[in-house]
Amino acid sequence: MSAVPPLGTAHRHEKGRAGRFVTFEGGEGAGKSTQMRRLQQRLAERDVEAIATREPGGSPHAEALREALLGGKAASLGPLGEAVLFSAARIDHLDRLIKPALARGAWVICDRFADSTRAYQGARGGVEPRLIALLERVALLGTTPDLTIILDLPPEIGLERARQRRAPDETADRFEREDMAFHEGLRQSFLDIAASEPGRCCVVDALAPEEEVAQAIWHIVEARFFRGNAEQKTEQASA
Ligand SMILES: Nc1ncnc2c1ncn2[C@@H]1O[C@H](COP(=O)(O)OP(=O)(O)OP(=O)(O)O)[C@@H](O)[C@H]1O
Ligand SMILES: [Mg+2]
Repeated sequence: MSAVPPLGTAHRHEKGRAGRFVTFEGGEGAGKSTQMRRLQQRLAERDVEAIATREPGGSPHAEALREALLGGKAASLGPLGEAVLFSAARIDHLDRLIKPALARGAWVICDRFADSTRAYQGARGGVEPRLIALLERVALLGTTPDLTIILDLPPEIGLERARQRRAPDETADRFEREDMAFHEGLRQSFLDIAASEPGRCCVVDALAPEEEVAQAIWHIVEARFFRGNAEQKTEQASA
């Protein structure tokens, strides 16, 4: 029996969602992958199973689309075509990995998600907000992140970090190759998203040393998801 659920089943709605869904957003080299690993470790110390995944990708079909999207082959479709492909990849990722994991109570930590489509193809690519919103509704069908961490730093620093990390035979991806004005705009787009949805999004200063950034993120996660439980337990213990 396959562990992968078929498409169009009960996973395409919110029923049974028990885990937490946390996404990491921000510019290139902001520290998303680094901080996701650290959060996953912190959660493991609390015996919380957290699955780390990424976009575009995260499921076999979506990973196949990743190559076209980041390699630059899909760029000729234009930003709307790219947004549609990102959304197609997202639907597969949600159906095959994210929703089943949340339904069985695991946490899912995702490196980029729908806000990246809003920022890259929407605000930067010029796709109309109502089209981006429509695609997002169709792709997510209600599986909105419980928390989005937006790692903020000047793009020249992030791009330099990404450049230094890259292996000698690795080339910059389709978006890393955009000019500085694009990346400046991208930073602002993420800040605008955070301002428009303060309940879901938290902006974290990613210029700080790695350890400090990890602490800031942990405080947010703890306050949001564990403090209530801790208080409840204390109350039960003293009752
Ligand atoms: N707070 C930090 N201070 C300095 N360097 C950092 C910090 N966080 C991460 N780095 C380093 O910067 C580089 C990029 O970090 P990371 O790969 O986590 O970023 P990313 O946001 O996932 O990048 P990309 O968008 O390219 O996937 C890595 O070499 C990492 O070790
Ligand atoms: Mg990364």
